[in-house]
Order: sequence, then structure tokens, then C-alpha cells
Amino acid sequence: MRAHEAGALHGELGAGGPGWLRTPDDVNALVPQLWPRGVARAADGALAVGGLGVRAIAEEFGTPAYVLDEDDLRSRCREFRAAFPDEDIYYAGKAFLCRAVVKIIAEEGLHLDVCTGGELAVALSAGMPPERIGFHGNNKSMSELTRAVDARVGRIIVDSFTEIDRLTALARERGVRPRVLVRVTVGVEAHTHEFIATAHEDQKFGFSLAGGAAFQAAVKILDEDVLELRGLHSHIGSQIFDTSGFEVSARRVLALQAQLRDARGVELPELDLGGGFGIAYTTSDDPAPPHDLAKRLDKIVDGECAALKLTVPHLSIEPGRAIIGPAVFTLYQVGTVKDVDGLRSYVSVDGGMSDNIRTALYDASYSATIASRASAAGPILARVVGKHCESGDIVVKDEFLPADVQPGDLLAVPGTGAYCRSMASNYNHVPRPPVVAVRDGQARVIVRRETEDDLLALDVG
Ligand code: LLP
Repeated sequence: MRAHEAGALHGELGAGGPGWLRTPDDVNALVPQLWPRGVARAADGALAVGGLGVRAIAEEFGTPAYVLDEDDLRSRCREFRAAFPDEDIYYAGKAFLCRAVVKIIAEEGLHLDVCTGGELAVALSAGMPPERIGFHGNNKSMSELTRAVDARVGRIIVDSFTEIDRLTALARERGVRPRVLVRVTVGVEAHTHEFIATAHEDQKFGFSLAGGAAFQAAVKILDEDVLELRGLHSHIGSQIFDTSGFEVSARRVLALQAQLRDARGVELPELDLGGGFGIAYTTSDDPAPPHDLAKRLDKIVDGECAALKLTVPHLSIEPGRAIIGPAVFTLYQVGTVKDVDGLRSYVSVDGGMSDNIRTALYDASYSATIASRASAAGPILARVVGKHCESGDIVVKDEFLPADVQPGDLLAVPGTGAYCRSMASNYNHVPRPPVVAVRDGQARVIVRRETEDDLLALDVG
């Protein structure tokens, strides 16, 4: 037995190995909360999604490929809709945006949050009703603001005094009255990776609550009376499981709401509590279902409004990851396997940090399974790595794979719907993978694979 085979490994992992990792009884088993709901092992042992086998998908579309279970995506939209029936749900397009997804979320009754001119262009070109679009960003350019105003987006979430001035000038020039929310930095330390926490004071987003800038921004907009101030906005960060951060933030932002009422006699009609709801990447993640979130948020907002004698504002939220993340897995092909005796096996796949930068950037954890077959072999500790020229090119840090994992196997990594394709790069001139949507046994490409010609087309020197 090699030292990193399962039996020999128990002690090693117990003493400082990754906490979430348990030697599996069955390397072929799929942990349901990590996979799109339409994924199962078929009779031949290979994974199938929406009734379509992954070998057929790989043959037709190649690897790597992001595979979207369209029914899973729709069911998550519906769960949020059912849990928040009176609220507006803005899908955060930064998680993943393309025209097909815009159409799906529009059909499912969601709104859309965009944060650049590019995202706005995708939304509009897919026919998203502009009044259901919210436009975010800490440094929106004049041209982006102009496009948003001219398109009559439903709301612009203002993030700085400079932006208020730009937008006010634009509104005067165009003779329009854009609807805005003020982005409030509530000073909450969200329990998540530093790069994706957004409500502590020392970062770039929003108007500080504690420092008084949020109050001043709201008062300025009310006094100038050119923009229509609809409400306040707070987003505390991403991949958050502990709802206490939302509680604190709702409390603080509602206190500001009351302060504005007392100072200016105005009760703002809307409140946005942002997104950031966590999803399961490994078995140690235990996200709350949308109806639990809804119950908790409603309770806090209702209680706080009663205490402050405020009318409960119309609520909105902005989930991105929780809608698209679990609906997608990445399908790779194994190219080489290298055993580092006593430690682990390095399983190299045909993609890597160019299609999933999250492991390298946020130290994110993922899981993986052999997708093209079931295996009778016992587990080995494996690290799934990419084909890029650096050793930090890791897709899955630790996973038990069958000891007979070999070149040619297809390997699937679940939970890659959010911030993988949207943050993909061409590092090492690796073309970005396609997104293939599967529904009722049919697959369609919704974002095509990039080609070397695409890469060369930009290189005009
Ligand atoms: N609303 C606002 C204002 C945001 O800034 C974000 C995310 C969201 C909503 C959606 O958050 P979600 O529900 O998807 O967690 N690239 C990082 C995540 C960055 C999030 C940026 N803002 C990652 O891969 O984890």
C-alpha cells in the first residue's frame, strides 16, 4: 500500500489534515448538497445530468466545460421567489452572466444586479426589462452612468459623493429623475475571506455609517431633489453562513432610516440587504435554505421597524452565488497522475486556475469525483491541479479519488457556477471553456469555447 492510500492516512489526517475531509466509504458516492439536483450516477457508473451522460457531453463539446443543470438553476430561482414572495430578488450577475442566464432569471421573475457597462450590455441585449435592473459599482464612469440613465434602469446604487454629483448633472441635462439607493457601509465584520467582505470600514465600497457620510449622502440627494432617493443598501460580503451579520447590518441601516425620518421627515420606501448567502462547496458547509433566510431577515426587519416606529420598507436582496453556484459543475479530463509517495497523488486536468481562480485567490475548497465511470478501487488522497505554469495552480486541494484514477478519466468539480467562468482568464493563452446548459436530456452551448483564433484576433501588433 502506498503511504497515501486511505488506511495509512487515517492517522495523518486526524493529526492536522483538512478537517472536512473524511475517508469515504465509497469513492463513487455523490454528496447531494454539493451537486446540481439533476446529477446522478447512471447504470454504467458515469455521471449524468438532466438525463444526459457526461461522456456524451465531453465528446460533443470537449473538456474542460462548465455544465449547467438548467432545471437546478430554475428551481433555485423558484425557491428564492417562494421564500421572498413580496421582496425583489436581484440576481447578482457578477457571479455569472450570459444572455441565456439573463433570459432564465427574467422568466423566473427575478430582477438583475449589474455592476459594469459590460454586464449592463449583456442584460439589455438579452431583453432584461430595464426597470428590473439595478446598477452597482464604486467607480461607475460617466459613460456607464449615461448608458444606465438612458436605458432607464430601475435603480442606481450610488457609492460616492462624486457619483452623486455626476448623476445629478446627468439627470439635469437629460431632464430625468433616476431612482437611487445609497450604499451604506455598516461596519460589520462578516465572517468570510477578507477579499470578499465588504461592510467593514476600511475598504473601498460605500458611504460610512459610523463616520456620518451615509447620512450626509442621503440628505444631499433629498435636498438637491434631482435624483429620487428610494432607499438604503447594505451588502456585508460573500459566502456568509452566519446570519448575525445581516441582523447587525439591518439594525444599523434601519437606525439610519429612522434618523433620516427624524431629520427630514422622509421615510424611504425601499431597503436592500444585499447578497452573500453561502453555498456548500464541501461537506463542512451547511447553508441555510432560502425560506430560513427569509424568516430570519423578515423577523429582524419587522422587529426593528416596530421598535423604531418605521413603516416596513419594501425589501430586496441580491443573491448571486446561491442561485447559480450549485447549478454548475466543471467537467475536465485527466491528463497525468503523479504520486508523491507518502503524501498524495497529483491529478492534472486540462484546465486549472484559468477556469477556476478561487482556490488560488481565496484559498477556496472544492470537491471532485471521477465522472466517466464508477471505480471499485479504494481511495487515495489526491490534489487536482491544472495545466498552468505555476505550482499554485490548484483546483481541488484535497480529495479522495479512487486509486485507479488515470489519464483519460473525466473528472467533475461541483459548485463552479459562481465566480469561475466570470473570473476566468486566458493565462498561458489557454482559451476559456464553454458553458453547456442541459435540460431534459438535451444540451446546448450558451457560451461557446474560446479558440486560439479568438486570442490571436486581439493581438494586432
Ligand atoms: N450584491 C453586491 C453589492 C455585491 O457586491 C455582491 C458580490 C453580491 C450582491 C453577490 O454576492 P453573492 O450572493 O454572489 O455572494 N469573487 C468572489 C465573490 C465576490 C463578490 C462580489 N460581490 C468569490 O469568488 O467568492
